[in-house]
Amino acid sequence: MSFRKLSIRDVPIDRKVILVRTDYNVPLNSDGTIRDDFRIKASLPTLRFALKRGCTVVIISHLGRPKGHQPELSLAPVAERLGDLLSVNVTFVDDCRGDRVKSAVRKSRPGEVLLLENLRFHEGEEANSLDFAKSIVEATGARYLVQDGFGAVHRAHASTSAITNYVPSVAGLLVKKEYLHLTKAIEKPKRPLVAVIGGAKVADKIGILERFIDQADSIIVGGALANTILAAQGVDVGASRIEENQADTVNSILEAVRAKVGPNSVDKFLVLPHDLAVAKSINETAKRRVVRLGEIETDDLALDIGDETITDMIQTIKRAGTVVWNGTLGYAEIEAFAHSSARLALALASQESTISVIGGGDTADFVMKWSNNDRSLFSHVSTGGGASLELLSGKTLPGIESLLNAPK
Ligand code: ADP
Ligand code: 3PG
Ligand code: MG
Repeated sequence: MSFRKLSIRDVPIDRKVILVRTDYNVPLNSDGTIRDDFRIKASLPTLRFALKRGCTVVIISHLGRPKGHQPELSLAPVAERLGDLLSVNVTFVDDCRGDRVKSAVRKSRPGEVLLLENLRFHEGEEANSLDFAKSIVEATGARYLVQDGFGAVHRAHASTSAITNYVPSVAGLLVKKEYLHLTKAIEKPKRPLVAVIGGAKVADKIGILERFIDQADSIIVGGALANTILAAQGVDVGASRIEENQADTVNSILEAVRAKVGPNSVDKFLVLPHDLAVAKSINETAKRRVVRLGEIETDDLALDIGDETITDMIQTIKRAGTVVWNGTLGYAEIEAFAHSSARLALALASQESTISVIGGGDTADFVMKWSNNDRSLFSHVSTGGGASLELLSGKTLPGIESLLNAPK
């Protein structure tokens, strides 16, 4: 569970040009303005650390999934927001390699920040191209790469993998903090460890579910994931969103649970909803009806767990030492179906002695909105969607693996 990589604190960066890879893949409004600057704020400790040491900080990031050069996915608006947050001038350079970068770095002075244009405007980024990575290092003349884009470290791309062949590469403060919080919560938790798993991307959540069968003391399941498991067990879930053809996967999950806790304790360990909140359609005015399993009509959509299930869940959460939550428990974008997720957020925010670790893009968005951006109400809200999921599932992350090892 210890972090076996060098970090920015371990290398002599003073007054040097350094590259910092951040994840500024931020949600945008339809007019191109930034909707949520959570990931920009999360990068500030590393940037401030480097600026205090007189570094010239050259930041690289991706934004969205552009096909070639798409001006609406420029990082220029991020440069402006970052400048406001850091209270320093951030120079935006409209490429991430080549002469314009060279000249901007040459003109810069220690203590200055440059943000380079979206890496994914070049196909070399996602192709993990050695030549592309080398051209970034050469244009900037950077002496170190600081990997702080936690949200992107599950990708083996040029800025997370290939680049480490050309410049000594260490972890930033965010990457280290994310790694330690997420791995500690699952490998060395304050017990009982309760996992709450919901959301819609069922295939992605199975890995986490399997790992928590080993590690957790109980698992609460909601969202479309719960609908899928109920449907695979023969419960009629009407027109609810489920993932088809999951019977084998669900059977192997139930088998693993039986092997761990014995056939009589399966329901106590793997807690599925026993009532559901349903509606006939998904919209702001849809009426929330709570029904028991067996009472769902063919045109009903189960969009949240039911009120009795919520009450039971909160009882379990009250006893937890650690709660790891991944995936909203209902269709939380609509208030009527955010009841369970909001009750869970409230319980975690008010139980100060419970360690709460929240991962997953939509789940983090939900709790940040619920708390009015006060992440201090929780022990850790991850900036990583896929990255937090893969780390919690026990996978290794290429963007961390490629960093320099700390001496043993
Ligand atoms: P995360 O991004 O936190 O990992 P997912 O992407 O797997 O989570 O799932 C979040 C999405 O799941 C949300 O958009 C939410 O509306 C949806 N969702 C949750 N419960 C349901 C449900 N019962 N029916 C349909 N969609 C659901
Ligand atoms: C994310 O938002 O999860 C990361 O920035 C990675 O983005 P990607 O899924 O487009 O690789
Ligand atoms: Mg999601």
